[in-house]
Amino acid sequence: MACELTGLGMYVPPRVLTNEDLEKFLDTSDEWITTRTGIKERRIAEEWEKASDLGYHAAKEAIENSGLSSKDIDVVIVATSTPDMIFPSTACFLADKLKCNKPMAFDISAACSGFIYGLTLARTFIAAGQAENILVVGSEVFSKIVDWNDRTTAVLFGDGAGAVVVSKTNNDKGILSAVMRSDGSHWGSLYCPVGEKIKMRGRETFKLAIKNMAEASMKALEEAGLTLDDIKLIIPHQANIRIIRALAEKLEIPEDKVFSNIHRYGNTSAASIPIAMYEAKEEGRFHEGDYILLTAFGGGLTWGAIVLRV
Ligand code: ACO
Repeated sequence: MACELTGLGMYVPPRVLTNEDLEKFLDTSDEWITTRTGIKERRIAEEWEKASDLGYHAAKEAIENSGLSSKDIDVVIVATSTPDMIFPSTACFLADKLKCNKPMAFDISAACSGFIYGLTLARTFIAAGQAENILVVGSEVFSKIVDWNDRTTAVLFGDGAGAVVVSKTNNDKGILSAVMRSDGSHWGSLYCPVGEKIKMRGRETFKLAIKNMAEASMKALEEAGLTLDDIKLIIPHQANIRIIRALAEKLEIPEDKVFSNIHRYGNTSAASIPIAMYEAKEEGRFHEGDYILLTAFGGGLTWGAIVLRV
C-alpha cells in the first residue's frame, strides 16, 4: 500500500531574535554567526508556549490543506526533543487540542532526524494496513533548553513547528524509499540531560553530518531506483549553511538544488525539514510529480534520507 503527503502546515512564533539582539548579552557578533552558520535571526516562543501549542497551528493547517478533518486522523506522531512533559506525550496533548477522535498518539525522540523517522513510521503503518491518515509533526521549543550564557550553542537554535498529513493512496506519489540510521557511540557529540541544557561538540558533529547525510542520500536514491539527476530539490535539515554547502559539494550538485531557509529560523531541530518543505513549496521550488530528497542528521547520533514523489 503506497502513501502520499496530502497536506502541509507550518507555524513559527512571531517573536524574532536577531544576531544583533544576541550581541547585546553574549560575546558574539553578527559577522561571526553569519559567516560560521548562515543564521541571521530565529523565532522564540513565549514563556507559556509549548511544543504542542506550536504544533497545533502547523497541524491544523496541514489537516485543512489535506481536505480532511481532525476526526479522520488515525495516528498522531510528534517528533520533538522539547516535549511539553516527560509524559504524557506531546502527541496526546496535540491530539486533544485538535479534537481528534482518540487516535494512536506518541512522540519520537530522534533529535533533528525525528521528522524523517516519523515519516518512515507513517509509511510503515499505512503499508501494514493499520492506518489511512497520519499526522506527522516536528515541533520544538529549543529556546527553553538552550543555555543563554553559552555562545557556542545559544546562537544556533530557534523555535517552530511543521506538519504533514500522510494518507493512503493508489497513485504513484509518496515515499519511495527511506534509509534511517543511528550510532549511539557518538552520543556525547550532542546531548541534553534531563532538566539541564544542551551540550555540543560542534566540530565533531559538523564532519559526521556531511558524511552521513551524503551516504544516506545516495543509499535512498539507489533504493528508489533514481539518480541525483532525477531529483528536483534536496531539502536537508537546517543546522548550518556550511554543512548544506558542503553536502552539495560532496554530492557534486549545484548549491541551488539544495534548499535553505536557515537565515530566517536557525536550527529548529525536528521542525526544520517540514518548515523547509512548506516554504520550498510556497516558493515554487517543486511541483506536483517532482522527486524530492529529504535528509537529516542530529543527536543520537541519528540520520537518514527519504526520496519522495510529491
Ligand atoms: N561567537 C563568537 N565566537 C564564537 C561563538 C560565537 N557564537 N561560538 C564559538 N566561538 C568561538 C570559539 O570559542 C572558538 O574560539 P577559539 O578558536 O578561540 O577557541 C572559535 O569561535 C571557533 O569555534 P568552533 O567551534 O571551532 O567553530 P566552528 O567553525 O566549528 O563553528 C558551529 C561552530 C557553528 C557550532 C559548527 O561546528 C556547527 O554547525 N556544527 C554542527 C552543528 C550540528 O549540525 N548539529 C547537529 C544538529 S543539532 C541537533 O541534533 C539538536
